Amino acid sequence: MTLRLGDTAPDFEAETSAGPIKFHDWIGDGWCILFSHPKDFTPVCTTELGYMAKIKPEFDKRNVKILGVSVDSPESHKGWVKDIEETQSTKVGYPIVADSQRKVANLYGMMHPAHDELYTVRTVFVIDPKKKVRLMITYPQTCGRNFDEILRVVDSLQLTDKFSVATPVNWKKGEDVIIVPSLSDEDAKKKFPKGWKALKPYLRITPTPDR
Ligand code: BEZ
Repeated sequence: MTLRLGDTAPDFEAETSAGPIKFHDWIGDGWCILFSHPKDFTPVCTTELGYMAKIKPEFDKRNVKILGVSVDSPESHKGWVKDIEETQSTKVGYPIVADSQRKVANLYGMMHPAHDELYTVRTVFVIDPKKKVRLMITYPQTCGRNFDEILRVVDSLQLTDKFSVATPVNWKKGEDVIIVPSLSDEDAKKKFPKGWKALKPYLRITPTPDR
């Protein structure tokens, strides 16, 4: 079954580099980034895991847990983590699922056989506190991801869940937002006391409401 936005993220039990987990219980009442890597001891993945470790405090601030997936054993992951920490000058403070049987990879559609029969592609899932899939992105194995973009999407999701807004192109936290078209001007007046600039009746720009 293909996962789609809004679907419940499949639950699973798995061994990780930091012991066994039951996915939904492990997420708890926060958010989660689940992201796959083709294989341990590969160069692009090494830089990706290192970067995620460095920006983990930003995810912590937003109540987002990080979970990597790679199709090797827990022992292999532990050895690889040492290399990541040495070469990327960081501490990997999140677990990596040891998915030798490709259980998680198959549940989440991380295997793309026409791209690679044996190893996963690079996927990223953002999962919310209700365990719903809110973002899915798939990258080819040869392209390292931009995890600042994932952080940006989390900021957008957390803001737009709370207020009747959407975020425009290349938006970053703190910048102006768009009032959703479904909200009438009358209701918008109550919700956005700072007012808005209407470039078109459907394009109303207002200061971010969380400041
Ligand atoms: C890497 O992570 O470096 C990588 C993995 C698979 C194919 C190409 C690069």
